[in-house]
Amino acid sequence: MTAYLADGKCRREVAGLPVVVISTGNGVVVIENRCPHQQAQLFHEGVVEEGMITCPLHGRTFRLHDGACMNGAGRLTILESNIVDGELMVKPVPGPEYGLFR
Ligand code: FES
Repeated sequence: MTAYLADGKCRREVAGLPVVVISTGNGVVVIENRCPHQQAQLFHEGVVEEGMITCPLHGRTFRLHDGACMNGAGRLTILESNIVDGELMVKPVPGPEYGLFR
């Protein structure tokens, strides 16, 4: 995947997997664009503040550095990424690493 970084976040696909690329003060985080709560593909519309993203559907908040949920069960899928020669390289995961949490 090639992406040119901008402030904030953008929606992309990596090997068919919908992801959100988030530019933070500490670099870039790439997450699967699917909430582990009820699988909403709305993270691209989520609010990013202080190293966390809040799902717009039911308000669960997840830490971007490790994916942990701060107000419920579940964990974000964070994809391994690296910037090489100004391009964002992302390693896709073979499948979901989490189940359905309610
Ligand atoms: S689907 Fe994201 S908080 Fe419920």
